[in-house]
Parts: sequence; C-alpha cells; structure tokens
Amino acid sequence: PSVPNQPITWHHSNLSRQERHLANGHKSCALWFTGLSGSGKSTLVFTLEKELHLRSIRSYVLDGDNIRHGLNADLGFSEQDRKENVRRIGEVSKLFVDAGLFVLSAFISPNEHDRAMVRGLFHPDDFLEVYVKCSLEECERRDPKGLYKRARSGELPNFTGISAGYDVPKRPDIVIDTERLTIEESVRLLIDQLEKRSCLT
Ligand code: PPS
Repeated sequence: PSVPNQPITWHHSNLSRQERHLANGHKSCALWFTGLSGSGKSTLVFTLEKELHLRSIRSYVLDGDNIRHGLNADLGFSEQDRKENVRRIGEVSKLFVDAGLFVLSAFISPNEHDRAMVRGLFHPDDFLEVYVKCSLEECERRDPKGLYKRARSGELPNFTGISAGYDVPKRPDIVIDTERLTIEESVRLLIDQLEKRSCLT
C-alpha cells in the first residue's frame, strides 16, 4: 500500500495470517450487514456474535449507533459524513480481519458505491455482504426508536428511506428477509452460509 505525497512507510508484521488463524483455530472474515433503520441489523449481528462465541469463534460487532458514540462521534448523516462513516468502518473491519477475527459490521451504508469501496478493501474470500431485507413500510411500523415518526414530522432531516435514499444491494452475498424469518431462522441461515463457504474452519 502507498499513500500519494505522504512520507509514510508500511511496516509488515512478523505474524502471518496463517499463524493467527492457526492460533485461533479458525479463519477470519468480515460480514457487512446493510439495511434500513429498523430492518433488524443490530438484533441479527448481536445474536450471531453470541452464536459464534458459543462455537469458539472470536468475533466482534461494529454497530452504527455504537460507533457513532465514539470513533465517529464527529459525523452526522449528510451524504459526505455517511461516506466517511462507511470508509472508516471499512478500514477498521479490515484491521479486525487482519487480526484474525470475525467482524460483524452493521451499518445502514445506503450508498452502493460506498459499499463497493468497502468490498474492494478485502480479498474476495474475506468479505461477505449481507442484505438485511425489510420493506420501508414494515420498518416504519416497527419504528423501535421512534425515529421514523420524528422523520415524518420533519424533526429529523436526511432520514434514510424518508428524506434520504437507500440503494438496494444488487448482488449481496446473502439476503436475510426479516419480514419472513424469525431471528433464530436468520442466524441459522447465516451459520449455514458460513459453513457452506468453509468460513468457520
Ligand atoms: S449510515 O447511513 O451507514 O452512515 O448510518 P449508521 O452509521 O448505520 O447509523 C444509523 C443509525 O443512526 C440513527 N439515525 C439515523 N439513521 C438514518 N438516518 C438518519 N438521519 C439518522 N439519524 C439517526 C438510527 O438509530 C440508525 O440506527 P439503526 O440501527 O440503523 O436503526
């Protein structure tokens, strides 16, 4: 890697990915969950994290709301800020994969280009995009944080699905339809997909 016009050098670790995988007993992988607010991303990733833990797979959740409390507390919801939000988390997710872990990143990440940029940071074997599918009508009906109501009243500007766009993923690796599946079925499907792709060994 090189950064144009910056006097910086990449230092290589003395540990290989293989050595880290051997120590952990499994590969590492980034699962990128995208979907509308209220689609079920957070519920899904935190349940999956626990399930992976029970299988002795070291994993960690990066969740939009949580990351915006700290690392990305300086970012709002303009197109530019969301791009930067997604870019930073893409880079952080890459560090997790390099460290030998599973990273479950749950961000609305509404822009197709930004998601493609994140995918481009990874080796194709190390990255899966999961589309958490749920209609806007159902997300608005659930409205777990009352944000859709506030967005409809005009109190919350740039709200995804109401006053800001969401690009439906064109070629996600996995689709989880949270209007049709229970949380248990959704996690089962994810585990099956990970096993099928030999990610858990
Ligand atoms: S993004 O688009 O990827 O940068 O968003 P993300 O970092 O995932 O943050 C989404 C959570 O922020 C809350 N929130 C909003 N979402 C969308 N639009 C607007 N304007 C907004 N304002 C606050 C909301 O709780 C989102 O959480 P989730 O878990 O997706 O419901």
